[in-house]
Amino acid sequence: MLILQSEIDGTRVRAIDELVARGARGPSGRPVTFVEDPSRAEVVLHRPEFDRGRLARSFCGNGILFSDGEHWRERRRIMQPSFPPRDPDHHLQDVMWAIPGLVRKFEAAAASGATLGVVEETVRYTVRVLYRGVFGQELPEDHDRIKVILEYFDSIGGVLAATIFPELKLDGRSMTEIRMNASAMDAEVDRLVEVRRAGAADSAENGNDALGRIIEQVGDADGGVGVRDEVRSLLVAGAETTSNTLGFLLLMLAAHPEARTRLEREIDAGSNGASGASGASGTSPFLDAVVFETLRLFPPVWFQTREATAPVTLGDRRLEKDDLVFVSTALIHRHPDLWAEPDSFMPERFLPGSEGAWQPPHRYAFFPFGGGRHLCLGRHVAMHELRIAAREIVRRFQVDIVESTPLAAELGVVLKPGRKIRVRVVERGRTPR
Ligand code: HEM
Repeated sequence: MLILQSEIDGTRVRAIDELVARGARGPSGRPVTFVEDPSRAEVVLHRPEFDRGRLARSFCGNGILFSDGEHWRERRRIMQPSFPPRDPDHHLQDVMWAIPGLVRKFEAAAASGATLGVVEETVRYTVRVLYRGVFGQELPEDHDRIKVILEYFDSIGGVLAATIFPELKLDGRSMTEIRMNASAMDAEVDRLVEVRRAGAADSAENGNDALGRIIEQVGDADGGVGVRDEVRSLLVAGAETTSNTLGFLLLMLAAHPEARTRLEREIDAGSNGASGASGASGTSPFLDAVVFETLRLFPPVWFQTREATAPVTLGDRRLEKDDLVFVSTALIHRHPDLWAEPDSFMPERFLPGSEGAWQPPHRYAFFPFGGGRHLCLGRHVAMHELRIAAREIVRRFQVDIVESTPLAAELGVVLKPGRKIRVRVVERGRTPR
């Protein structure tokens, strides 16, 4: 499969720099504009002259993550009550439910001395949260949904890369693989919807989870296409984003023992409260700082695509209708004018100072969850998933990267740790086996 791979130099993902220099082209045939300036990012994310366009929609469907205009507004209206902005703890119980399964994976690895695949285990965990909290169904701890989901993501990453870098041609084998992955994903989406419908029939109501609301309000008039598009969108939005951040977070702590020790001390001192909901409510300053610093260096949504809806000027550039713009979160998060030592892992930069709470140097200097009308719906779920998993893992285990697997990244629709990265897990206070 055509997936862009990259070594990580310190923390720098080399391929991102190379991509910008490479001369990407949008479907219009004209160059892609990479936005690396926070003020321009704000313009693109807020103004109606830029919308999601056709690129991603053409292969991922017209769900909430890829649509815009009236269609998107309607879908956001349907889903918003399942992600109430004033109730950040709405999905906390789903996260707490999935945590023991994740911890047991680490326990088992520590007990047996076997290595653990970071990408698989973190995505297994976030998929369980997503299915329970958003799709209204519980998966077992050892569920096998990971392969179909990861391979589908690889496929859309490959199609996207080949669309904007025409020299990266997809050969016949890749096309066959992509088709197979897409149909495996279609089957998974159908299954998921069927299970939800059956559950609703049993209980005579659809519940307040996002899928229940979608089934009820989008309905079947279009042969179920609308419902399936939303499920695909939610899977893309909610599965690999958080899991990859958690993966990078564990890898950064493994590579920065001083940060790990400081975090262990904070957790051991119980400044975050006992294990459970209290620790999720934002009272662990260094834990939060580690999460933010990971999201700064490795934002899973490393660029946000938009297309110009009409000829428009952006800074010193004139864009034509349909020109493609990449709001380059990954580049802005490391811009030397905005960040001291931009490539260093320095969680302490996010700690409150003598003047009070930390403030970003610009509203769009740090925006891992996007901004404007498409601000991430799942940001509170994601923050709970990250804080609680990081706390529970660091509290119990020391995680080290297996030396034979160099730190690498893959750049698809999301930025992720290399699939082959494996870690060794030791119960804290015990000597490695
Ligand atoms: C660390 C984890 C996550 C990150 C960094 C993240 C980031 C983002 C970003 C940048 C966008 C805006 C995309 C754009 O402007 O085109 C977005 C949208 C979205 N995210 Fe997240 N996300 C995360 C986790 C989640 C989770 C767990 C869910 C669901 C449970 C979710 C659901 C959504 C949805 C539905 C949208 C579309 C919103 C709209 O267009 O109205 N996200 N996310």
